[in-house]
Amino acid sequence: MQKDFISIADLSGEQVRRLIDQAIADKARFRAGELEASLNRRTLAMIFEKPSLRTRVSFETAMTQLGGHAIYLAPADIGLGSREPVIDIARVLGRMCDGVMARTFAHDTVVQLAQHAPVPVINALSDMLHPCQAMADLMTVQEHFGSLEGKTLLFVGDGNNVACSLAMACAKVGMEFILACPEGYPMPAEAVESVRNEGGPDCCTITSDAKTAAERSNILYTDTWVSMGQEDEKQQRIKDFGDFKIDSELLAAAPGDAIVMHCLPAYRGLEITDDVFEAHAETIMNEAENRLHFQRTLLHTLIADGGIG
Ligand code: CP
Ligand code: NVA
Repeated sequence: MQKDFISIADLSGEQVRRLIDQAIADKARFRAGELEASLNRRTLAMIFEKPSLRTRVSFETAMTQLGGHAIYLAPADIGLGSREPVIDIARVLGRMCDGVMARTFAHDTVVQLAQHAPVPVINALSDMLHPCQAMADLMTVQEHFGSLEGKTLLFVGDGNNVACSLAMACAKVGMEFILACPEGYPMPAEAVESVRNEGGPDCCTITSDAKTAAERSNILYTDTWVSMGQEDEKQQRIKDFGDFKIDSELLAAAPGDAIVMHCLPAYRGLEITDDVFEAHAETIMNEAENRLHFQRTLLHTLIADGGIG
């Protein structure tokens, strides 16, 4: 049993597929008013070192829908690592709450929380990974195309936390991942290595030729060029990323039934043009909504079922 949800690398392909199937089934049951409120009187502590719209609202809403409660803990309130060491925060929250969700800068902070809290800990984005996003994304792909295996996802932009989690998720389910990025912005070499160890040498490619990659891609995906914590590099990044965007020209190179995805927040005119965003807004909003559905299933699995089996 997996107590925590820190990285998709920790799960087997079978576990990834089962969680996605379960989330899709639970979504239908929820919409039919048939989903049991399985977390009655349970509490989730939510630690945020960075801003959030989707992650905060979806976790809090999911806890409410399951009959439980969520507490928002801002960094200034708890002083993670300054007022109190991470190890003590983990142990105290473990005595009072039934789960901990954390959005952190250093990936090691969420790892330490998981090590020291006796309750499930969920990575809600670190500088290195964003596994909840990648799971909701594959759920969206499966709902749209009916299957995952054999599909190709082209990520246009920075080899960032979202890219790393998506690449690993793709490898787990037999999808191909391509990153189209400017020189100097690939995924970390260790991330690429572990993805290829999982899915084989051809499952993860890095290129500077987005157009050629788009020709054989089912999904065109992008994220901001400037992640939270990189604000000082903003002007340089905007210069360097220049053309690594999803626009109508790139979309025209892709198969006619290709979809466009974005984890949001989106910066129109930079990584995606307004016309492409609006033409694909239905898919992008389904993707955002699926954060709620996937995480509701994840919370039930970790807290009510006792872990990912
Ligand atoms: N996609 C995502 O995680 O959004 P937030 O940063 O608003 O939570
Ligand atoms: N890569 C982005 C994702 C935001 C959801 C960031 O880390 O800011």
